[in-house]
Amino acid sequence: MKILMIGDVFGRVGRDMLFEYSERGFFGADAVIANIENAAHGRGVTKNVYDEISKTGIDAFTLGNHVWNCPDIVNVFRYNDNIIRPYNLEGDLPGSGTTVIKAKNGVRIGVINLLGRVNVQPYSTNPFLAADKAIESLKSKCDIITVDFHAEATSEKQAMGYYLDGRVSVVAGTHTHVQTADEKILAKGTGYITDLGMTGPAVSVLGMDKNIILDSFIKGYSKRFEPATGNGQFNAAMFEIDETSGKCTAVERINMNL
Ligand SMILES: [Fe+2]
Ligand SMILES: [Fe+2]
Repeated sequence: MKILMIGDVFGRVGRDMLFEYSERGFFGADAVIANIENAAHGRGVTKNVYDEISKTGIDAFTLGNHVWNCPDIVNVFRYNDNIIRPYNLEGDLPGSGTTVIKAKNGVRIGVINLLGRVNVQPYSTNPFLAADKAIESLKSKCDIITVDFHAEATSEKQAMGYYLDGRVSVVAGTHTHVQTADEKILAKGTGYITDLGMTGPAVSVLGMDKNIILDSFIKGYSKRFEPATGNGQFNAAMFEIDETSGKCTAVERINMNL
C-alpha cells in the first residue's frame, strides 16, 4: 500500500496545491497525511482552514511548533480526531498527539506527531522517550504506524529514524520547509526522509514574501512577514508499505512545481 506524506502546507498557495493534487488522485495513494501547521496565512490552522482542507479527502493532519498560533485550533481538536498536535508538549493541553485512520484498503494506520527540542519552541519533553510511549499506546489499535517528527535539526531527525527503525513503518521529518534528498529505507525496514519540504509558494523564503525577508536581513527591519503569492510547489514523499510486515519497500520523493 502507498502512504503519501505531504510537507508543511503554507497559506493560500499551499492549500490550492492540495486541491490540485487531490483532483489528480494524490498519485494513487491509499492514505494521505499532511502537515498543515502553516496552512492559515503561514501560521497555524483556523476552523475555516481546517474545514476547507478537509474537502480534499486527506485522511490525517499533523501540526508542529505553530500549533497554538490560531486560538480556535482548540475547537478543531474538540470536534475532529484526524488532526493531531505534537505528542510531547509539556502539560495537560487540548488535542491529541496520536490518531488512527483507515486507509482505502482497510489497513489501520496509527499516526504520531512529535516535536524536536533543538532550536524549536514551544518547550517539549524528550521526543525519543515520548515516541516509546506513543507507540505503546497505539500498538493494539492499528496495523502500522507512521511518525511525523517536526524538528529543526537534521541530526535530531536522523537520530529519531535510527531510534524507531523497525518499530514504525515511516519516520518523516517536517518543519524546515526545505526538502532533503536523503529518502531511504533504514536497515530494519523503516522508510525515512529528514524533511518532506513545503507545499506552498515556490518563489519565497520558506513560504514568506522574499522581498520582506530580504529587507529584514539587509536593512535590519521590514514590514510584517506576509505569505508569498504566485506559483506553487508540492513537496511530499510516497512510502510503499508491506502491510503484513509493516516494512517499507520503496520511498519516492515528490517535488512538483505548477
Ligand atoms: Fe512549518
Ligand atoms: Fe514548524
